[in-house]
Amino acid sequence: MELITLHTKNTTYQVGVNENGFLLHLYYGPRTEGDMSNLLTYFFRCGHGNPYDRGTDRTFSCDFAPQEYSCYGSGDYRNHAFRVRSADGTAGADLRYKSHSFTDGKYSLPGLPASYGDAKTCEIVLADPRLNLEVVLKYGIFFEEDIITRSVEVRNNGTDALYLNKVMSASFDFVTGQYDMIHFYGRHFNEMNFERTFVGHEAIAIGSRRGVSGHQHNPFAILCDRDAGEDYGSCYGMSLMFSGNYVIQAEQDQYSQTRFQAGISDEMLDYQLLSGEKFYAPEVIMTYSAEGLGKLSRNYHRFIRNNVCRGKYKLQRRPILVNNWEATYFSFTGDKLLEIADEAADLGIEMFVLDDGWFGNRGIVNPGEASFGDDRGLGDWFVNEEKMGGPIKNIVDKVNAKGLKFGLWIEPEMVNEDSNLYRIHPDWALQIPGKQPVLGRSQLVLDFTRDEVVQNIFDQITAVVDTANIEYIKMDMNRSICEAYSAAAGHQNFGEITYKYVLGVYKFLDMLIERYPDMLIEGCSSGGARYDAGMMYYTPQIWTSDNSDAIERLNIQCSASYGYPVSVVGSHVSAVPNHQNHRITDIDTRGVVAMSGNFGYELDLTKLSREEKDKIKEQIVRFKADWDIIHNGDYYRVTPGGENREYVAWNMVSADKKQALLNLVTTNTHGNPLAIYGKLKGLQSDAMYRCVETGALFSGTELMHIGMPMATTQEEFDKLTEYVAFQRHFVVQE
Ligand code: DGJ
Repeated sequence: MELITLHTKNTTYQVGVNENGFLLHLYYGPRTEGDMSNLLTYFFRCGHGNPYDRGTDRTFSCDFAPQEYSCYGSGDYRNHAFRVRSADGTAGADLRYKSHSFTDGKYSLPGLPASYGDAKTCEIVLADPRLNLEVVLKYGIFFEEDIITRSVEVRNNGTDALYLNKVMSASFDFVTGQYDMIHFYGRHFNEMNFERTFVGHEAIAIGSRRGVSGHQHNPFAILCDRDAGEDYGSCYGMSLMFSGNYVIQAEQDQYSQTRFQAGISDEMLDYQLLSGEKFYAPEVIMTYSAEGLGKLSRNYHRFIRNNVCRGKYKLQRRPILVNNWEATYFSFTGDKLLEIADEAADLGIEMFVLDDGWFGNRGIVNPGEASFGDDRGLGDWFVNEEKMGGPIKNIVDKVNAKGLKFGLWIEPEMVNEDSNLYRIHPDWALQIPGKQPVLGRSQLVLDFTRDEVVQNIFDQITAVVDTANIEYIKMDMNRSICEAYSAAAGHQNFGEITYKYVLGVYKFLDMLIERYPDMLIEGCSSGGARYDAGMMYYTPQIWTSDNSDAIERLNIQCSASYGYPVSVVGSHVSAVPNHQNHRITDIDTRGVVAMSGNFGYELDLTKLSREEKDKIKEQIVRFKADWDIIHNGDYYRVTPGGENREYVAWNMVSADKKQALLNLVTTNTHGNPLAIYGKLKGLQSDAMYRCVETGALFSGTELMHIGMPMATTQEEFDKLTEYVAFQRHFVVQE
């Protein structure tokens, strides 16, 4: 059997081409050598489709042999990876190995985000001569990072159109083992809930049909041994670099073999591929850890930070910001903004961000009108000078003069019916003629499959940004797509339009980055509805949730840490009672939680007490001092996701293991409570660590095995109630 083997430092991935040209998945796991075709079995089994060229031999079927890229029409009745329809209406293909090659460097994907860096590319070409079809499986091999990426290019080399109905980005089969799938479900204000589900003989599938990756399921999942935990067990991750409709699923087949796959949603796909055209499936970032979920997460942290995120700020500390959304919502004037900026400058905050409501008639409510003002204005990207008290440059200059940078909110993909843009170009919105459109937050989605629409919005927004020293953009997106009808498309095709829409969004972001290479762009989609590795390629930070409550953020940020680094998390201290759940927490607690992200404030700074302001000043100093270990250190979950916990703890360790930072927040309170020991992970066991706050000396082993008591005296014990945060710094005593 011809073998194709991919090695990273600690993992090996192998496929083989059998005598009939079928590409079989042989192995993915700990680094090893050799020919793993010895894992294949050949049993006479009834009731399966056998390839014609095997004659009467029924010991081979694509229905039970482990497939690398299973195809409908091959006799594989499981959840296949690829399905094509021909112009004559027939469905099915016969994909066989044609060639493969290894090249230095990492492939890229036209119009789609793709990771980059020191890597090799392997391309395996599968072909169906009857259909003049080639399917190229692409693999990016990042040796040091233990990452293998996958993507697919489909080529129509024939004269007739082909219709792609399923093109998964990655799929492979395990011949043995029982697995759990870990995934993260949620809703607006409540993203990223950890769920661990046994993968039995039915498909466990997560995904989106909303046109965005969505709050409901994050496009990232882990398949792991049933007994795998933070520090032990085999775990496989798939993180999809795509921000639209998708599916990630796992399933055991009739022989209890498990198939794991990820890609764009086939439910939504009917892509017309004309003669000579190519189609690209988005990239999936895969990693394997033999040492549990913690190691798997750290592989993703390093990779997304270094090989996915881009731009000036990718490895830099981002400015500590204050955002006016939860401070004012739409009720502000230019003077009010400057009052907040004044306080911000005083406290040491580094950037002022003007959120929604600065343009068109957005947020302007007539007396007696029952409206929040969020039903108008989107699409009209000109400054409301009356509200702002003049051109935006006036405010930006004044904010800059206080020593602060200036950032601006936009929502480029949207339009309100109450806007000049919509009145002139109603056909620019995605809506089905004759059907009353479904509204989301009273808005419609612009047809970003059309270049002229993207260009118009780009021109409007850049005309504002060009007038002033704007150094940050928060790019929001506040509704899903359900009427994917493009007035310009001719051939109407839901799946094609939702895919092309995402390409339009990426194009807009590319244009923005090209125009403003040093601009820091923060992603946002009602918080975390587009929190995916695809967006991270353009926006090195993303507002993780519209829920800014410190305690709910513990869960959200803990779950995010399974697949994404701290450097991507957007996290702010907001007012109490919290605006989303009315909880009251101390400003220290809010600070500790928000610091495990891109730190900022989102409250009216002019309404704080002297004591709170002093605390903020301290927090800013502390965050700056700790930024390096928080963002660049190795991240460990001390308390894993999904557990009903008395406290949540996580720690960071510097690369040389000489420094560590423990964060612990209590989430419950009791009469006569138990003592709490804050454990750490990832330390050097034989080193002695001094706790900076208390001066106490601990061995690495002691801290990792038992932990440090969070309270030792009666006075400290009395403060051991709910929602109390601790940060403990440790340095090695040489
Ligand atoms: C949703 C975002 O997530 C919020 O932070 C804020 O920007 C609002 N949109 C503004 O409309």
